[in-house]
Amino acid sequence: MKVLAINGSPRRMGNDAYLLRTMLARAEAAGHETEFVQLSALDFRGCRSCFACKLDMEPWKSSCDCAVKDGLTPILGKIDAETDVLLVAAPIYFGGLSADTYAFFERLFFPALNYDAEHTINRKRRITSAFITTQNHDVPDPYLPLVANYKADMERLVGPCETLMAVETAQFDDYSRFVSSMFDVPRRESRRFTPQSEDVKKAAELMDRLLEQAAQG
Ligand SMILES: Cc1cc2nc3c(=O)[nH]c(=O)nc-3n(C[C@H](O)[C@H](O)[C@H](O)COP(=O)(O)O)c2cc1C
Repeated sequence: MKVLAINGSPRRMGNDAYLLRTMLARAEAAGHETEFVQLSALDFRGCRSCFACKLDMEPWKSSCDCAVKDGLTPILGKIDAETDVLLVAAPIYFGGLSADTYAFFERLFFPALNYDAEHTINRKRRITSAFITTQNHDVPDPYLPLVANYKADMERLVGPCETLMAVETAQFDDYSRFVSSMFDVPRRESRRFTPQSEDVKKAAELMDRLLEQAAQG
């Protein structure tokens, strides 16, 4: 199977990347093909609201293609054509998603959505997926509605979706170099991801479940 991981954090070696790389390593060890996509390295923007995907004509009526052609186009194509498990990870920014993740979701979701009375969906097959978030805040509560909304959209427009929320993440490699008196620094340091971290173990277990689900079709 093919597992595609989308990193919505601009940090290539940050918390989201750590969880995604853990999951991909797990999938590779089980013999699956993987790909890591760094959204911030792509030249793309969010939905242009051109409504080509809503035209009452083919191919738009029956495809989930986005008419905008840019750096995201090959990735959307791969998701549609060859991805069995889709992982999307995002850092929480100002109570929402990072801008890159937000733009990605607009482009992934909108072309799949038809404006017909039946609310039909244009994706040819359901793709097993996970939506992962990482955040500074020490409890998930403020962001539960946000994550629930994206999970619901993923389930409607992509396929079955599990979520994983990692809280109270370590932000700096070296806290002594940054103003950080708002943090309990020793505790934050102890939250830095390692293979023994609870969130990292949960991510590995999540990958196993997703592979099992995807194999069952
Ligand atoms: C611009 C910006 C805004 C942020 N806003 C929030 C926020 O509203 N709530 C929160 O809990 N964490 C916030 N954070 C912290 C990040 O979500 C957190 O450190 C995350 O784990 C970073 O993931 P990364 O290491 O993959 O980049 C913010 C970080 C940045 C850079």
